[in-house]
Amino acid sequence: MVQLTRRYHFSAAHRLHCNFLSTEENVRLYGKCNHANGHGHDYELEVTVEGCVSPATGMVLDLSVLDAAIREEVLDRFDHTHLNLDTETFRNLPPTTENLCMEIYKLLQPRFPGKNGDARLKRVRIRETRSNFFEYEANETGESVGTRRSK
Ligand code: NI
Repeated sequence: MVQLTRRYHFSAAHRLHCNFLSTEENVRLYGKCNHANGHGHDYELEVTVEGCVSPATGMVLDLSVLDAAIREEVLDRFDHTHLNLDTETFRNLPPTTENLCMEIYKLLQPRFPGKNGDARLKRVRIRETRSNFFEYEANETGESVGTRRSK
């Protein structure tokens, strides 16, 4: 198995605010990120897929296929938006970078399910600031998000 990681950039505004908490609790929890009018980030997104190298092409995945999926599922949806106000995804979900990782994973997973020897989505990593990055990764069996196997 070989992993391929490609980096993308998008910019978006957001406000971290939980409707279930009081004004004071929101300020305590999110600090400046609770600022009423929002603020912006230049997000750096790294998407990792893994798979077998095709004997014919010598590649794990055609980069143009990856680029098209990222453009259609992520950039067209989130770039230069206010995540809370402009996207269905974050209308009722706090647009933390943790949630952004998981939602982007969910959006991309059907494009790279890893069936029939094709590449599968492995990991979504987002750098929010110079100090923070977050990542979300499939479990080792490649099961879809949120499923848990009990023995
Ligand atoms: Ni922020």
